[in-house]
Amino acid sequence: MRIGLLTSGGDCPGLNAVIRGAVLKGVRTHDAEFVGFRYGWRGLVEGDTMHVDRHTVRGIGRQGGTILGSSRTNPFEGEKGGPDNIRKTMSELGVDSIIAIGGEGTLTAARRLADAGINVVGVPKTIDNDLGGTDYSFGFDTAVEIATEAIDRLRTTAESHQRCIVAEVMGRHVGWIALHSGMASGAHAILIPEQPKTIDEICGWVESVRDRGRAPVLVVSEGFKFAGMEDAHSHKGLDAFNRPRLGGISEILAPMIEERTGIESRSQVLGHMQRGGEPSAYDRVLATRLGMAAADSVHQQQWGSMVALRGTEIVSVSIADAVHELNTVPAARYDEAAILFG
Ligand code: F6P
Repeated sequence: MRIGLLTSGGDCPGLNAVIRGAVLKGVRTHDAEFVGFRYGWRGLVEGDTMHVDRHTVRGIGRQGGTILGSSRTNPFEGEKGGPDNIRKTMSELGVDSIIAIGGEGTLTAARRLADAGINVVGVPKTIDNDLGGTDYSFGFDTAVEIATEAIDRLRTTAESHQRCIVAEVMGRHVGWIALHSGMASGAHAILIPEQPKTIDEICGWVESVRDRGRAPVLVVSEGFKFAGMEDAHSHKGLDAFNRPRLGGISEILAPMIEERTGIESRSQVLGHMQRGGEPSAYDRVLATRLGMAAADSVHQQQWGSMVALRGTEIVSVSIADAVHELNTVPAARYDEAAILFG
């Protein structure tokens, strides 16, 4: 059994722990060999590999990033892409199966490849925690820790100057990082994509905090949308590299708050800081267990499956079910946090 490993999509603390878990379990229990594909699907499509064995993975479980590199390459695109070419590349390299570690895009591609008869097992990865089929994904806990520490720091400077601070965290489609870091840091309002709010509601929370003599702290997901003010998002456009802008909502929200309430306001986009550095202990353990379970799934030939966390157990689910629906923040969870706003 020769297993190809790849990490694809945005990186995430814990990727190396998955690789280590899969390799050590595969080598010690299933007599497997491994090969690493570099920079995600691109490595598989182009046959760009790196040697991976039990010595390569020694000590990497606590390291951030990914020793394999990552990219957002789609394996169905380009001259060398598509199932037939991939099957050929795999057979030339003597690779009989793939463990694909990635988020929604990666797993959707993995499912399509599995449907085309390629032996693929998925491992869910996202700091945003937006994948269905698993209770939590590794990287999320680390991102929440980093965001919480940053918001705590922003609060003390906001208080010194009696300013309003708007901290923007990642979360294109869902607000899990904002919800958890906002609750942990005692934010006065949390704004998430699942719960559009009007600028009047937001300013109401800000003013009630100011009226108590405190500095308002707001946490906003990058994907937050104003209710009834769709044109407020037209600022997004392209970034300095001519790509569609992702974050930046805090940069329009802070001046709006200042203009309407008269409270001096500042914004801070936390950005890729949330994805960098060492994984938390929780994420190291979760990622290692998922990696080990992925090696078992390959051994059991569970093609088209994904390893997942259910409660405290690692289980195997179908990738199709996992990518079917995003894991959004339930309204009840938001309402619970909203009791603390203002
Ligand atoms: O999907 C994870 C994520 O971190 C999102 O929250 C964010 O919008 C995006 O990746 C950023 O991607 P990139 O690293 O390509 O800028």
